[in-house]
Amino acid sequence: MFDQLSLLQPDPILGLSAAFRSDTNSNKVDLGVGVYKTEVGETPVLDCVTAAEKQLLQHQTTKSYTPPAGIEGANRAAAELAFGTEHSVIEEQRLSTVQTPGGCGALRLAAELIAKANPQSTIWVSAPTWANHVPLLTSAGLRLKEYPYYDFAKHKIDFNAMVNTLKAAGPNDLVLLHACCHNPSGADLSNDQWRQLSELASERGFTPFIDMAYQGFGSGIAEDAYGVRLLAETQPELVLAMSFSKNLGLYRERAGSLSIVSANKSQAGAVQSQTLSIARGLYSMPPSHGASIVDTVYHSEELRSLWFSELTDMRERIAGLRLELVKALNERQDKRDFGFIAQEAGMFSFLGLSVEQVNTLKNQFSVYMTDNSRINVAGINQQNLPYLADAIVQVL
Ligand code: LMR
Repeated sequence: MFDQLSLLQPDPILGLSAAFRSDTNSNKVDLGVGVYKTEVGETPVLDCVTAAEKQLLQHQTTKSYTPPAGIEGANRAAAELAFGTEHSVIEEQRLSTVQTPGGCGALRLAAELIAKANPQSTIWVSAPTWANHVPLLTSAGLRLKEYPYYDFAKHKIDFNAMVNTLKAAGPNDLVLLHACCHNPSGADLSNDQWRQLSELASERGFTPFIDMAYQGFGSGIAEDAYGVRLLAETQPELVLAMSFSKNLGLYRERAGSLSIVSANKSQAGAVQSQTLSIARGLYSMPPSHGASIVDTVYHSEELRSLWFSELTDMRERIAGLRLELVKALNERQDKRDFGFIAQEAGMFSFLGLSVEQVNTLKNQFSVYMTDNSRINVAGINQQNLPYLADAIVQVL
């Protein structure tokens, strides 16, 4: 049966972790997979999460199945974080939110729902986009097209090219947008650009499909949801995949959600039933632990404010590292200005290196990043920064 299957290359992002682990160089630097790291290179359990887990263990009375849509309190938390507490889509009950196994689960479930609703749909994705968007969306049989997004030469978004290309998108299309902290470029749309996109969506009739995996890592919870809230206000329909992997540090607990905004309440009910029926065929019901943490943290005033302050610390540490990296690189050479890294947000930026340069960094200096020279800025610390900057300058 399986003897026809060939060996695949490791995943372009996750494969880096295994290669890094087996590297014996004591100077090695891991800028690969997008997980937050502290100054000592640890990915910590947040204090608010530890406190919530203690409460959960004390009060847990059953391991029976969760309802198909997951933990209700976690879904409310996700909806309020994304849309705010008083958004019209919540008040008009046009929102259907289901808990999913992580943000990937949300994207895959969305793709299946879209394929069921309209098999002719095309999803427009940014060039470049997160590598895993492609298998997650195409596995459901959807067609993908690219719109220009990041201009590698200018180190910024080519918004005119993006808009000109998206003028070809129509009512059978969805446009996948990153709410904040664009993965892999770190270059985000301004509020004014979100407004222009909203007008374009109204004109062309395409549906916004937003991936919000880094809420709070850009400028703040509400600020990072600007585009989500605006498009939910102006468009009849919207798809939103969310993840608590990064902002609550719940990576392995697989806590995410899928929210669909529908044109009216009865349509939202139909969407919810279809989403749950697809989920039943994929994984039945989502895991409960991560979502219970989301529910507990969000609905305790004390833990929620602890969370927000821990999230602010993570965001500010990364912003500080961006400045320090730029300084270290610019004071070591004058061929290239790396100042753009300080203008970008979230975990990622491109260094703007070739695959050969990335390979040299890996093979000669044990500095790990994806082939397109995306770095996870959170992997930098005071100890590895001088070594890293020297290594990058040597391959320039
Ligand atoms: C990343 O982009 O590195 C993260 O989102 C982890 C992953 O699953 O790829």
